[in-house]
Amino acid sequence: MIQHNSSLKPYTTFGIDVKAETFVSVKTLESLIAVLKTNSSQLLVVGGGSNMLLTKDIEGLVVHIDLKGIEICEKNKNTTKVKVAAGENWHDFVVWSLQHNLGGLENLSLIPGNVGTAPIQNIGAYGVELKDTFVECEALNLQSLDIETFSKADCKFDYRNSIFKSEVKGQYIIISVTFELTHSEHKLKTSYGAISEELKKMNVKSPTIKDVSKAVIAIRQSKLPDPKHLGNSGSFFKNPVVSRSKFEALQSQFPNMPHYSVSENEIKIPAGWLIETAGFKGKRFGNYGVHKNQALVLVNYGGATGKDILQLSQTIQKAISAIFEISLEAEVNIL
Ligand code: EPU
Repeated sequence: MIQHNSSLKPYTTFGIDVKAETFVSVKTLESLIAVLKTNSSQLLVVGGGSNMLLTKDIEGLVVHIDLKGIEICEKNKNTTKVKVAAGENWHDFVVWSLQHNLGGLENLSLIPGNVGTAPIQNIGAYGVELKDTFVECEALNLQSLDIETFSKADCKFDYRNSIFKSEVKGQYIIISVTFELTHSEHKLKTSYGAISEELKKMNVKSPTIKDVSKAVIAIRQSKLPDPKHLGNSGSFFKNPVVSRSKFEALQSQFPNMPHYSVSENEIKIPAGWLIETAGFKGKRFGNYGVHKNQALVLVNYGGATGKDILQLSQTIQKAISAIFEISLEAEVNIL
């Protein structure tokens, strides 16, 4: 049903109250195509709304993708291919995979958002990215209204990036994603420090995929706010990558700075550490602020506007640039 002047608050995890001029939630591909055929105004597509900051009312049409369904489509020796509709909740799908003894997604437990939006920014956590189990996705071409298939190579996945966030941004709606998961010989990735510590705490010596998921859930719950209780969009910024020479200059000034080597000449520095070192961690400005356990997460305590949060993000960017001469890039889409 088409609604006018409709609040988008329930559709984004930041919980910001802006209005859509026209809003429709679609449960079938046919209704999605029918809506698009008659639409001539500007279009915004929302899935789980977990990676966007809305700073103003949205003109034109907002379509919420609510396509559902999980289908096992191929069984091989050690792996099973599963095709999932775009509107399935990401964590519910991870839980489904664990219940079916399918491995590969356990490190990505509890990430907010939907399956259809996960490839756009190649979601990742604890040493695993969506691209590791991704086979292909189907996407609706908004010009022709034809369905096209994108292979892993077509998607050009990168750190929190893909073709859907760059070259073809705004030109397609992802309607399904196919994953290849293991049903035997699971390949666990537990080397990420926090996971191995958590498994030790849980007294688990030979972890199963469910144990790894439990560990990830415990870590995320201890650090990251649940959007159901506190509006947020996960990491607000990407972790910046600097050259080795820049890194060495910074390291002599900040010897305890955490860092990861990305390539011979590229070093990634955790933005959370930069923001904490700049003094923002846990800072509250009225009804918005920087989370107390993870400085990379900006939060809406209730009633904040998108502009408030945008302004805070810009204040942080300026401070990080002044102290470290590093420019922080937003990970969240700002509209
Ligand atoms: N750190 C601080 N202070 C903070 C936060 C982090 O000093 O307030 C330091 C930590 O001590 C650690 C390092 O930064 O040495 C890394 O922290 P963490 O393991 O929490 O990961 P992150 O780099 O801050 C990234 C992803 C998260 C993902 C985690 C775990 C990005 C932008 N973020 O965060 O993804 O869950 O790794 O893999 O890459 C998201 O994208 O929304 C998201 C939550």
